[in-house]
Amino acid sequence: MFPETTLHTERLTLRPFNSTDIPDTQASCADPLTQRWLPLPQPYTLDHATSWCTSVAHALRESGDGIHFAIVDSDTERLMGTIGLKKTNWQALVSEVGYWVAPWARGRGIAAEATRSLAQWLLGDQKFQRLELRAATENIASQKVALKAGLHREGVLRNSDVIHAGRIDAVLFSLVPDDLTAEAAAPAGHL
Ligand SMILES: CC(C)(COP(=O)(O)OP(=O)(O)OC[C@H]1O[C@@H](n2cnc3c(N)ncnc32)[C@H](O)[C@@H]1OP(=O)(O)O)[C@@H](O)C(=O)NCCC(=O)NCCS
Repeated sequence: MFPETTLHTERLTLRPFNSTDIPDTQASCADPLTQRWLPLPQPYTLDHATSWCTSVAHALRESGDGIHFAIVDSDTERLMGTIGLKKTNWQALVSEVGYWVAPWARGRGIAAEATRSLAQWLLGDQKFQRLELRAATENIASQKVALKAGLHREGVLRNSDVIHAGRIDAVLFSLVPDDLTAEAAAPAGHL
């Protein structure tokens, strides 16, 4: 399993969830844009948020599946979003990142900043060999986040994922350790 961890970026702290995150988690997960792209319970209740913040997020780390962080503003400590790793393959050293940003925090590049930090921790400190990210072909904001964080677009996984609206195609992105050393000379691409 991943060790319990807190990460710091220029503006953000990525830390384990706790009970203070419950109301903002409920509001963010019930938000229409979050519900559009993530297959979360619908309706998303305070009970769902309580269970996630105090139990499920921690149990997933302990199970070895991944690790889940609350993204908070380092100055105000307000919840800004979440980022996490899931479907971790410990033999291949591959894991998949996922995120949402709270409605009140969108439009400030928070997901890319958090993704970058988590990627450096995973491929650096944790010595993983590959980070994956999947975004629906129509989820342009998430694809921009992936590129801004330095991931590389690999292609389209047809009919691969399920959201509330039904089955979708997803774009697969990745980051590998060589990218971190090579990118100073070759900045991230564009859509
Ligand atoms: C995807 C998400 C996390 C991005 O949040 P964020 O970090 O605040 O991202 P920003 O609003 O700064 O947008 C990132 C980029 O996408 C662009 N963008 C945002 N919404 C867009 C839209 N509807 N269409 C096209 N571009 C869009 C922004 O202009 C920005 O572009 P730039 O880097 O060129 O400036 C957020 O929209 C969200 O929580 N969505 C719902 C959950 C979700 O989709 N999770 C990901 C599942 S794969």
